[in-house]
Amino acid sequence: ASGPGSRLERPGSSWAEEHGCSPACQSFVASAQPRAPSGERPSLHMPQKDTMRRVVRQSKFRHVFGQAVKNDQCYDDIRVSRVTWDSSFCAVNPRFVAIIIEASGGGAFLVLPLHKTGRIDKSYPTVCGHTGPVLDIDWCPHNDQVIASGSEDCTVMVWQIPENGLTLSLTEPVVILEGHSKRVGIVAWHPTARNVLLSAGCDNAIIIWNVGTGEALINLDDMHSDMIYNVSWNRNGSLICTASKDKKVRVIDPRKQEIIAEKEKAHEGARPMRAIFLADGNVFTTGFSRMSERQLALWNPKNMEEPIALHEMDTSNGVLLPFYDPDTSIIYLCGKGDSSIRYFEITDESPYVHYLNTFSSKEPQRGMGYMPKRGLDVNKCEIARFFKLHERKCEPIIMTVPRKSDLFQDDLYPDTAGPEAALEAEEWFEGRNADPILISLKHGYIPGKNRDLKVVKKNILDSKPTANKKCDLISVPKKTADMAGVQNEAKLDEILKEIKSIKDTICNQDERISKLEQQMAKIAA
Ligand SMILES: *[C@@H]1O[C@H](CO)[C@@H](O)[C@H](O)[C@H]1NC(C)=O
Ligand SMILES: *[C@@H]1O[C@H](CO)[C@@H](O)[C@H](O)[C@H]1NC(C)=O
Repeated sequence: ASGPGSRLERPGSSWAEEHGCSPACQSFVASAQPRAPSGERPSLHMPQKDTMRRVVRQSKFRHVFGQAVKNDQCYDDIRVSRVTWDSSFCAVNPRFVAIIIEASGGGAFLVLPLHKTGRIDKSYPTVCGHTGPVLDIDWCPHNDQVIASGSEDCTVMVWQIPENGLTLSLTEPVVILEGHSKRVGIVAWHPTARNVLLSAGCDNAIIIWNVGTGEALINLDDMHSDMIYNVSWNRNGSLICTASKDKKVRVIDPRKQEIIAEKEKAHEGARPMRAIFLADGNVFTTGFSRMSERQLALWNPKNMEEPIALHEMDTSNGVLLPFYDPDTSIIYLCGKGDSSIRYFEITDESPYVHYLNTFSSKEPQRGMGYMPKRGLDVNKCEIARFFKLHERKCEPIIMTVPRKSDLFQDDLYPDTAGPEAALEAEEWFEGRNADPILISLKHGYIPGKNRDLKVVKKNILDSKPTANKKCDLISVPKKTADMAGVQNEAKLDEILKEIKSIKDTICNQDERISKLEQQMAKIAA
């Protein structure tokens, strides 16, 4: 057998069985794939378990622990979406928690001010402008009142939420971005450039929009031959990486429209993968082995031949959603349908991916939101906050580093990405890059006033396109939409012909049946 999945040896017991084990032992389980010169089959030299146990790696995150908030701090009576799509269904920022919900006759999501805990009334207003289920939502990192949504109705919509939340349902987006010819399952804002939004659809295309003008400026429609599972921007937004159903992980320069690195069969199993960029430029992936074991791996885009590390976890079948904190280099893995969150520290020392601990609870998670760093309570040494979606509620889970001191712990809170955009959209499209503008959390984060999102449309009709709800509209610069339109029409013709021929057949058979019935009646009589 070949491929990374089959090369990994590990102790016989499963991750779950190892649960009670010491952290040192756990990082033994998560042992790494040594780098090997290409061509040479890497072999894994497993030290004796005993010697491993004596090596206790120092980490200030060793004792990070998770805790669910009390019942009255949850958001209750929420009908979390049941749509079959592996997105997180929940997006959070320091003001609001947004949750995709079940809605009749279209798609909707809730936007609740963070303090609006307790029972959410059925009549609570929603964001409900899509005509099909909402599949993914993402808060703008540069404006806590702006959120994007992608939907089965093939559109992306960008919404402005009033300062204190919704008092009426919101049906009018600030802008509708049309260009995909199939459902849009992924939306992701650029980390450092204002008003740059990426979307990926089941048409296997990635479109990058200037939301400020409503234009689709980059259309990567010939890079993926199969469904795109996940897209992630790198730290300064110069590159994206994708995981797709063809089992490839690609690193793409979107402005040059070039694939600069790729790995076939990053994980050999057929089930969904995830790929995210880490701050140092490496790519972290989750996926499945051929034997359907869940795996995680670390890759250097400069040499994707072999992974830097490859670990096997267990045989559950929920997709592992990774949530990454670039400040602490911790990755939290939330399996869809699991009831636990496992977390790992990534370092540049073998085995590179170090298991830290597991937060376990009883109820499985339907989805998960992740608070940006600036939304955390630094006075309590909170280093991550999750918003776990149950079937009918959303439960915050707080991750804390146990410390006795009341003073600000600057080693836990290096300056972190603030809400200010480092670039304007035009600058980014012209080729500039910039890291996030950092802020100190020393005195906590005080949300500033957000300016309204202004969309000055170029090249697209001022009035909202309403009559033509097809997916081949207006603002796509390339010919793709037209092409898709033509193809769709051809398909439609084909289907209509088929329906006609079926109808004819049915008519003929009806006639035959009634004739036979008459004959039967005669015979009987
Ligand atoms: C990629 O997957 C991670 C983990 O599920 C998620 O946090 C992120 O939002 C995803 N990105 C996109 C664009 O879907
Ligand atoms: C942005 O990131 C890329 C990839 O890590 C790097 O090569 C480039 O130098 C960075 N640019 C800036 C301006 O930081």
